[in-house]
Order: sequence, then structure tokens, then C-alpha cells
Amino acid sequence: MVKQTTKLRGEAAFDLFYLEVFGTERWPKLKQALLEEKRPVARENLFAKDNGNDTDTDTDTDKDNLHKYYSMDLASIWAAQALMQVPIQTPIADEEKASPTAPIRVLDLCAAPGGKSLILAEGMSTKNVDGEFVLQGELILNERSAARRARLLRTLNDYLPANIRAKIKVYGHDASSWCVRDKSDGYDRILLDAPCSSERHLLLSSNKSHMADWSKKRTQCLCREQYAMLVSGLQVLRPGGCLLYSTCALSPLENDGLVARLEQRFFKRRGSIEILRPTFPQGEATKYGWWILPDQCEGLGPMFLALFRRSS
Ligand SMILES: C[S@@+](CC[C@H](N)C(=O)[O-])C[C@H]1O[C@@H](n2cnc3c(N)ncnc32)[C@H](O)[C@@H]1O
Repeated sequence: MVKQTTKLRGEAAFDLFYLEVFGTERWPKLKQALLEEKRPVARENLFAKDNGNDTDTDTDTDKDNLHKYYSMDLASIWAAQALMQVPIQTPIADEEKASPTAPIRVLDLCAAPGGKSLILAEGMSTKNVDGEFVLQGELILNERSAARRARLLRTLNDYLPANIRAKIKVYGHDASSWCVRDKSDGYDRILLDAPCSSERHLLLSSNKSHMADWSKKRTQCLCREQYAMLVSGLQVLRPGGCLLYSTCALSPLENDGLVARLEQRFFKRRGSIEILRPTFPQGEATKYGWWILPDQCEGLGPMFLALFRRSS
């Protein structure tokens, strides 16, 4: 076996790294599946109204100009839904705890372009007596890149009714130092859909220079950044609250490896984080989470998910 060093570069180094991770039998099949175009699904926008005429199915927007469908990977839908469905045990009033619509505080640390944020907004919304949707609680979205934040704002404007959009706060901070700035009393649910190696995008990209530049250092740098973000997110979790960590990376350093490091360092000091083990309609359990990989999930993913709860 050739020892992988951070000096090796390009697609040969990339192949060598993932051959070691997945083995000679799986990697060629997985790589082939990654090279196939993604097949996103058109998710219906809960807030868009039925136009009530025969041509309804031909139009992309409703009469208020809200887009009717958001195109995204099914695995991403499952991820955001899992966060909203996992029971939280935060110290809110008992009668509120029993209600699925209790006002909660939700934070999306890396939100653009916003597909998962829309699912969080839907999960927090209920209809009032007039049949209008209202956001229960507070939804806070964060995205460091100004260009991508502009895209996030467009998504919110295109898909959310004005009253819901007006209640959502959008910030542009570095997620890894969020816990230093945030002086609130914490969040019930946090999504950390972290920037990652995105190997599928790399393989499908028409810009070949990214692959030519690939080295193991790339994933090593990313996992340091992800670790800081994850620790920052866990620090602002309310007791009993849940955090979902997800990546579309194949590198174990950014997935189970990151959780293993967290378990050794952060959990020991804090002693109050539990790893939950949700299952999904497709995919496979890993040591600490769940993996949806396209070779075994009809082209879905890649998506790694790990779910944490802070002890109440
Ligand atoms: C995987 S994408 C998020 C996708 C999004 N959750 C969705 O479903 O549409 C990761 C995002 O994190 C942003 N990002 C990268 N580094 C960041 C940081 N340090 N703090 C906050 N956001 C960051 C990237 O610009 C990118 O938009």
C-alpha cells in the first residue's frame, strides 16, 4: 500500500485516499455513482397556495408570487425533517412540552442557499384562526458569505409569506465563533450543515483545477473548521435541546472522525452531550451517525448525519 501524504496531489491522490476508506471493491462503484448527475426532487412549498384553476399545475408560483416547489436532494429533506421531529426535552412549561407547536428557538448556523431553512420554517409554523401561517418561536439563520447570504435572502423572499419572513433573523457571522457573540439563553434545535469536502461536486465540476489541487490537507483543514463550528453550536444548545450535524463529505475525518474527536475532548470535559442514533429510510449506520451514499441509495447523497442532545 502507498502511504498517503499531504504532499500527494490531484485525482490520483484523491483516489488513493478514498480507496483506503472504502476499499477496492466499493470505491470504484461509489465513484461511478458519484459521477452520475444528481436527481433532486421537487419539494412542495407548504406556504404556496393552490391557485384554484385548471392551469395550476403549469405555473411555478402562486398568486402571491410564492414559488411552489424547491428542488433538493431527498437526503437533505430527511436531514432537516429529522431535526424538527426529534423530541426535545428543554425546560419549557409542561403544557407547552406536550404541544408539537410550542414556541421554540431554532438556529441554522450555515444556512445558504436555504433549502433546509425552509423546512425548519415549515416545521415551526401553524395556521391561526384566519387560516394564515404563523411562525411559532424564533428562527435565526446564519451564513458567513455575503454572496450566499444574498442568495439565502432570495430563497426566503421566494418561498415564505411576508409575515413569516419578517420574523426570521439573518446574520453573517463565522459559525465557529457563534458561541462567543451569542448572549441569548440558547436554542432548542440547531442545524449545522457544515461546509465540507463535497467530493461529488468536485467530481462533477467543470472546473478541473479544484480536483488537480486536491490533497489530504484539504479535508484535514476542513475538519478543524467543522470541529470549531460544532463545539460552538453545542455550547449554545439549551439543556434538552438537539443539534443535527450534517455534511455531504465522504471523508471520515469530517464525519465519524470528527464525532470521535469530540467525544474524546469535548464530551469528557462537559459530560453532558448524548449522541442519538436516528435511522432514515435509506442508508447505513456508522459508528456515530448515519450515511446516505449514492451507490446504495439510488443516487441519493452523499450525506452524513449525526444527532446530539444536551442533557437536561
Ligand atoms: C453545505 S452549505 C449549507 C447548505 C444549506 N444548509 C442548505 O440546505 O441550503 C454550507 C454553507 O456554510 C457557509 N459557511 C462556510 N463557512 C462558514 C462559517 N465559518 N460560518 C458560517 N457559514 C459558513 C458556506 O458559505 C455555505 O453556504
